[in-house]
Amino acid sequence: MSTYDDTRRAWDEASSKHVREYAEHLEQARTARLLPIEEEQLRPLIEDAEVLHPQSGHGLDDHALIRLGAHSVLGLDYSPTAVAAAQRRADELGAQCRYELAELPDTGRPAQSADLVYTGKGALIWMADLDAWAAEMHRLLRPGGHLFVYEGHPLVPLWAWDHDEARVREDRSYFAASHVNDTFPARGATEHQRTLAQLVMTVLGAGFELLHLAEHPDPFWMPDDENPAAAWDGRLPNAISLLARRRR
Ligand SMILES: C[S@@+](CC[C@H](N)C(=O)[O-])C[C@H]1O[C@@H](n2cnc3c(N)ncnc32)[C@H](O)[C@@H]1O
Repeated sequence: MSTYDDTRRAWDEASSKHVREYAEHLEQARTARLLPIEEEQLRPLIEDAEVLHPQSGHGLDDHALIRLGAHSVLGLDYSPTAVAAAQRRADELGAQCRYELAELPDTGRPAQSADLVYTGKGALIWMADLDAWAAEMHRLLRPGGHLFVYEGHPLVPLWAWDHDEARVREDRSYFAASHVNDTFPARGATEHQRTLAQLVMTVLGAGFELLHLAEHPDPFWMPDDENPAAAWDGRLPNAISLLARRRR
């Protein structure tokens, strides 16, 4: 069994959380909102948009995208458990969200079928081939369509989770190609790294123009811990937002 299969199995097992917490997620979906920076970037371009959400996971953001004005959202994920839980919730709420199984970077979706691709929050680190990912995002978008990514900052794998002081882990390098995940949910799986410059240059090289790029101090996810890591105290970058437009 390959490392890739192990990672996929780890995600499907981790996605059983979406089933266990179904009732809670259902309530959250009724009022879900995107982060303020996401709403600020997406509000001008989302009205009636057909949105594609690769690696949609629990899919709560899809309800937020509809609330912001999207016409519909198609979530794609390779976890059957995640896809089934998200579809059940969307059906129960009568939301214009649909979910399909797909294994990135090749989604198998028709070319130019989306106005907006929304992705991130723990997605890109699972992509071994970022060029292939960027080419697929470009293929899926109609000319002039937008790619929006809200993602962990490429420096995040370096931050230790010490509470007293922010520290750089001795076993990690900003310039490494990958590292082994040592936390939930994919302990032991290979995560793929790229620098911020590599990410931006890959997106530009795939045929996009950059409209927005920002770094943010708050992580997109924190463990349920009373005492958060010192690396999250507002002095270090923990997330990025990127908006790019497909050139015609
Ligand atoms: C950290 S979750 C984030 C998902 C979503 N942004 C959210 O907030 O729930 C990562 C998701 O990517 C999916 N995933 C990882 N690698 C994938 C691949 N190659 N193809 C499709 N889905 C993948 C996993 O199943 C998981 O649902």
